[in-house]
Amino acid sequence: MNRAKDYVNWDVERYGESVKAPQPNREGLPTGEPERLRKYYPESDLGKISQPATIVDRHGKILTIYLPNILTPSPAKVPWRSTGFCAPQCDGEFGAGRVTISPAYFMQMHERIQDPLVTSASYSIAEVQAWLAALSTTEFFWNAITAAVAPDLFQAGSAAISDALRQVSSNPNKSAAASQWPSIFSGLEVIANRVTLSHRDPGGAPTLYDLLVSLGIGHAATMKLADVQAELDYFPGTMLYISGKVLEHSVGPWVNGERIVIAHFMKDKVHDRMGVPRPAFPMQSFFLEMVGKEVRSSRKSQRR
Ligand SMILES: [Fe+2]
Repeated sequence: MNRAKDYVNWDVERYGESVKAPQPNREGLPTGEPERLRKYYPESDLGKISQPATIVDRHGKILTIYLPNILTPSPAKVPWRSTGFCAPQCDGEFGAGRVTISPAYFMQMHERIQDPLVTSASYSIAEVQAWLAALSTTEFFWNAITAAVAPDLFQAGSAAISDALRQVSSNPNKSAAASQWPSIFSGLEVIANRVTLSHRDPGGAPTLYDLLVSLGIGHAATMKLADVQAELDYFPGTMLYISGKVLEHSVGPWVNGERIVIAHFMKDKVHDRMGVPRPAFPMQSFFLEMVGKEVRSSRKSQRR
């Protein structure tokens, strides 16, 4: 159930069409965009959010799904470094760095609909393949959650990635087993121990949510959404679906522990290339009706 304060009094589609994506503020502050947009759209001040929540627009369209503490640490702890992941050597268990992995995406500057899809170089690294194989079961779990909370996104992602994988797999120069890609998202970005400046994601679409999975050890990072002035606890084990094209988002410095995020993304141009239309926003009414049907039927049975 939504708290009243998790609503914004504007239309996410019209808001999304108004946003620009300037370069992030290097000092870690929000860009000037949220402030500029407040001249045209009612201000939202959602404040601190620590409990499961959705942020919903004035028409009931869901623009953020927040699932804290949905993942718990496994007792069989596998050190991240032992998987040989591509982080540079430094103090700490996870190192620091960022790598993007995708079985089928457009090379930068080659993003016309007629350009070929290619596999990221990182995807071919043996350690990355081993890491993905170990992650597969968890990715299937995340796929299932996506199907439940954002069914249209799941359908669009499944259709686009299966066609894209087929296309890439038919390329004689393929360098890795693209068909074993475990996610309905078309790419992953793994970020270890990095502050994320306030930004919007340019390559997506308003309804192609990012799935951000916050992992790591003992940190108390928070995710800030400048457009709605919300601050979400972003502890290890949190899943967050966010319209990263519409909402400016950032993770500032944290005090203790180490932070890793696995950011799952879909590229609008890849979906366009595959002929997959953009999904609709998930509607709050869809979920309420599901609950309402149960309520109505139980009321009927009480009347009998
Ligand atoms: Fe982002």
